[in-house]
Amino acid sequence: MAKNWTPDSWRTHQAVQMPTYPDAAALAGAERELAGYPPLVFAGEARELRAELAQVAAGKAFLLQGGDCAESFAELHANNIRDTFRVILQMAVVLTYASKLPIIKVGRMAGQFAKPRSADMEEINGVALPSYRGDIINDIAFTEAGRAPDPQRMIRAYTQSAATLNLVRAFAQGGYANLHQVHAWTLDFMGRSPWAAQYQQVAERIGDALDFMAACGVDPETTPQLKGTQFYTSHEALLLPYEQALTREDSLTGQWYDTSAHFLWIGDRTRFEGSAHVEYLRGVGNPIGIKCGPSLDPDALLRLLDTLDPARQPGRITLITRYGYDKIEKHMPTLVRAIQREGRPVIWSCDPMHGNVVKAANGYKTRPFDRILAEVRGFFAVHRAEGTHGGGIHAEMTGQNVTECTGGAMALTDENLADRYHTHCDPRLNAGQSIELAFLLAEMLNQVMRERERAAA
Ligand code: PEP
Ligand code: CO
Repeated sequence: MAKNWTPDSWRTHQAVQMPTYPDAAALAGAERELAGYPPLVFAGEARELRAELAQVAAGKAFLLQGGDCAESFAELHANNIRDTFRVILQMAVVLTYASKLPIIKVGRMAGQFAKPRSADMEEINGVALPSYRGDIINDIAFTEAGRAPDPQRMIRAYTQSAATLNLVRAFAQGGYANLHQVHAWTLDFMGRSPWAAQYQQVAERIGDALDFMAACGVDPETTPQLKGTQFYTSHEALLLPYEQALTREDSLTGQWYDTSAHFLWIGDRTRFEGSAHVEYLRGVGNPIGIKCGPSLDPDALLRLLDTLDPARQPGRITLITRYGYDKIEKHMPTLVRAIQREGRPVIWSCDPMHGNVVKAANGYKTRPFDRILAEVRGFFAVHRAEGTHGGGIHAEMTGQNVTECTGGAMALTDENLADRYHTHCDPRLNAGQSIELAFLLAEMLNQVMRERERAAA
């Protein structure tokens, strides 16, 4: 148990990237209301995820984390939830087959609403208003009323998270996640992708493996693991009044948990020493992610780990690196060596999205698929050279056919971006690009695993 920690001890630390609510009484009322609501996830589930992540830290599993940059109130729809869930499962099957490792699935879902911003204010045609900070805080509409932080939005975000989580739990356990079904979707995708020939062999082999198992009597009817799956939720723990209100003491262990999601991460802008966000997260028992960008120096990271994981618990800490395709091979090795020297049992996960944002000539924020892929390659190259396990991928993606990232098999161009650019924040991979990323990642993982086998032989 963390020393000198209470769910509100963050309030005496430096808090950045959070709104100033104009009406303190309204804020306190919303916090009280949330504090009385049921938890969204249970402590036992967060512990189960930590145990699975311990397997990733040991090189015996792989983490797949993905979903929207920012969920929105407007996009709450069963089809959106279903489609993103489905693409994550498809990616997981391809990765399982290639790596022969269990894939731990974590959605950026059911709570990913609050956004850090590089500027407090946004100016359009000479008018300056507070920046949009995510639907849990204010409205994307550029009006004075829209941009005012409203604590009632926390209640709506909670309600939407509960509804999303309810559907995700049903999909995961109610038969929808059946492995044969997931493979059938992938075959359907193969029929539509210009890169299909490249993946044909892998898809056929997965089909053969399923047929072989079925002939041996191993099918979804006889084997529950083929019928359902574990699926966890995550978001950036940014809006601390919300996180605090959902913090509960586990009756079994007496440990505090943030029951708003299974996994919480600290963003690149809030992970500095002495920050309110670090203070809050050090006291909860959930698995924790730390975004690691070019400004993070190895000694600062080690001190951060002393604070967040003094017991050195495998599965507790996931380091989510987000350097940019042209920086990762320069910056990451020093971090990896520092961690190795200290013997810290962390998970290394690659976020190839946040260091690769470019502005297209027509003003759209986008991410070229080639750069995303190049960062993933750089990530595995560093881990290969250092003898460590590249254990995960963290992607901003959706099951919808949006046009937000350029490139991929359909070769989206800057001119296509305007067609279906729907994101409330950063550009996401669309369904096709996500599956393509999984196939390309699978090739890399397969090679890593084969080298490992050869080294062990
Ligand atoms: C994000 O994951 O959406 C994000 C803002 O990332 P970072 O903190 O790494 O910039
Ligand atoms: Co983002």
